Amino acid sequence: MKLICVGGARPNFMKLAPLCRELGSDPDFGLCLVHTGQHYDDSLSGQFFRDLGLPVPAHSLEVGSGSHAMQTAEILRRFEPVMLAEQPAGVLVVGDVNSTLGCALVAKKLGCPVIHVEAGLRSFDRSMPEEINRLATDAISDLFLVTEESGLEHLAREGADASRTVFVGNLMIDSLYFHLEQARGSGVQQRLGIAGPYGLVTLHRPANVDSPAQLAGITSALAGIAAGLPLYFPVHPRTRQRLAGELPANLHLIEPLGYIDFVGLMSAARVVLTDSGGIQEETTALGIPCLTLRDNTERPVTVTEGTNRLAGTSRDSILAAWREHTASPKQGRVPRFWDGQAARRCRQAIRRFFGMSSGK
Ligand code: UD1
Repeated sequence: MKLICVGGARPNFMKLAPLCRELGSDPDFGLCLVHTGQHYDDSLSGQFFRDLGLPVPAHSLEVGSGSHAMQTAEILRRFEPVMLAEQPAGVLVVGDVNSTLGCALVAKKLGCPVIHVEAGLRSFDRSMPEEINRLATDAISDLFLVTEESGLEHLAREGADASRTVFVGNLMIDSLYFHLEQARGSGVQQRLGIAGPYGLVTLHRPANVDSPAQLAGITSALAGIAAGLPLYFPVHPRTRQRLAGELPANLHLIEPLGYIDFVGLMSAARVVLTDSGGIQEETTALGIPCLTLRDNTERPVTVTEGTNRLAGTSRDSILAAWREHTASPKQGRVPRFWDGQAARRCRQAIRRFFGMSSGK
């Protein structure tokens, strides 16, 4: 049973790694990894392949950057010949990036079943490109593999076939647990010269970094926090292009980190401030307080059960959330099925979907 698994951007790779290990060890599957090349810098792609032990992709489409339309169009154009040559039994896509939607669309139009990992997440904010990618991918998927229970509710409401909707847990947390010990021993703090307590910042969402006024409000809030706690900020290329002017001395801009170093830095942070989707989940799994610099989240379990707080995106809302956090830090608990076994459940669900016994 040949399966194409698609990755394109940084947050895809940690979800694919445990799945490639699990499916790769099942003799009934032939795995064909496709990298669209949506992310191409070594710091966002190659380093992650090495850190996560991902196999060399069978196909690299090298689509590169561009407007959403251009990037998605390039993915459609370049993925179709791969489908025609490989003739897979199914295509598995993960997450919510342009590569997820692009490859799902090509597969479906060729009559090939689409498996969506991380199905059903909804921010209900249609100004986010990822929300459009989630809605459109789920509209044409055949098997929905779900990370948290809110996904089951959304898919049921949207009319997805319940027998094709499976709560498998969180592949990103499989990777986190698999690499945690190695990450804790990475020595990243010594290399960065960090001696005492610190916080960690990540920021790349267009809504936060594309408007200079918006970005200035956020950096001003970060300056207020950094006055009491040094903040380390690995800067995404998108954000690097936009950060200008004087930044406070205690807000340390550093190059993007590989997976092992990033997890090492995150695992000992006092607090994480982020607009990422996956980091909300990783901090919840690690029990580290997270302030999410957004007004909504498609991962509500991180707020209802985990350590996440929505801090908004204005200077005042972020500082208010910071004060709430320092007055009463959230304890949180690890959500159901975020236990390092999601890849096994994915494989079993995929076997059942294709009518194979799920027992192996
Ligand atoms: C993409 C995803 C987002 C995910 C993020 C993680 C979509 C719609 N967005 O956003 O969901 O959270 O990845 O990082 O798919 N660039 C480089 N090197 C690269 C890639 C990009 O310098 O390897 C620069 C380019 O100038 C590019 C910009 O970063 O224009 C944005 O990259 P893009 O892939 O369009 O979106 P991300 O912001 O990375």
